[in-house]
Amino acid sequence: MKLFTVGPVACYLEVLEAMGRQMMSHRSEEYLELHYDTVERLRGCLETENDIYLLSATGTGFMEASILNCVRDSVLVCVNGSFGKRYADVAKAHGRNVILLEPPLGEPITVEALEATLRDHPEVEAVALTHNETSAGLINPLEELASLVKDQGKLLLVDAVSSMGGTTLKVDDWGIDICFSSSQKCFGVPPGLGIGSVSPDALRMSEVVPNKGWYFDLKIWQRYHEQGRGTPMTSTIPQVAGLNAALKMIDGRGGKDWYFDLFKTRNAKIREGIEKLGLTTFPKNGFESPTVSCINAPEGVGGLKVYNAMRSNGFELAQGYGVLKETTFRIGNMGYMPDEDIDSMLETLGSVLEGF
Ligand SMILES: Cc1ncc(COP(=O)(O)O)c(C=O)c1O
Repeated sequence: MKLFTVGPVACYLEVLEAMGRQMMSHRSEEYLELHYDTVERLRGCLETENDIYLLSATGTGFMEASILNCVRDSVLVCVNGSFGKRYADVAKAHGRNVILLEPPLGEPITVEALEATLRDHPEVEAVALTHNETSAGLINPLEELASLVKDQGKLLLVDAVSSMGGTTLKVDDWGIDICFSSSQKCFGVPPGLGIGSVSPDALRMSEVVPNKGWYFDLKIWQRYHEQGRGTPMTSTIPQVAGLNAALKMIDGRGGKDWYFDLFKTRNAKIREGIEKLGLTTFPKNGFESPTVSCINAPEGVGGLKVYNAMRSNGFELAQGYGVLKETTFRIGNMGYMPDEDIDSMLETLGSVLEGF
């Protein structure tokens, strides 16, 4: 099966090889060397001097950590789809007061709307935002939004699960306090690792927030990180080894800009192919994600039918998600993806559509 999924995605061969090696102790010199080399490479990719923690959890674990450590009372959550909703649910589950900013589905968060909401709710301590909403195939104008959040002196928490590694993230320039992702997306590594940068301001807030629990207390992660001990808990060593191999591959082939261009090229090819087949993408023009295309299913044919027909032909796309389940299907362009597979996927999609 050729994978055009939105995570887990197909893994690079270098990654699978690195993950298949014998175990080591997470307190060994060998592991610590691997760990800190991975962190340094990630800092380059995210353009940050902030600490980077590698949580033995998926991206949602980091999402939970961001709320537990950076929000005492109130948070403004920007919602563009299912994962923004999840952010709000996580905050509510922890008893935080949640202010929602939710434009119509398919539209981005605008500076104007965010400014107005912050004006109405000066009490919020942080703004949580999904950079790339995987369910709707939409990317938010993060740089502009971040500038506003920083001007207002709020912490900025960014779910970059399906954008980190796939497009530019200038964590320090843009002032992102927590920026997290998962291993199974743009880096093309199996699931199980939460990857995130944490700013000094986020850690200062963590010092005064009560009842953080233990596992996701970022002050504990900071202590182990600074002491040169890597992680407080047993590390997901194969995933870290896989991520290290992916980052070395990226650095060896031209660095992050080469990798981001690869995403752009693949994404453009898929979108052009889709248009030629007479299909349209779901999000507002100009805000289409560079890592996942959310496509309107043809009139009279549900998204699930397209998904199932493609599966029968050896291509695993992604079903629509949440409220878009019936009306859309998605094509990811993350992870290991030979160029010729894009051609054959589009060709097959053409034949499948003709058959309906
Ligand atoms: C934007 C976004 N946020 C959060 C998540 C949840 O990540 P995980 O499954 O790694 O916890 C996903 C997963 O697809 C996602 O796409």
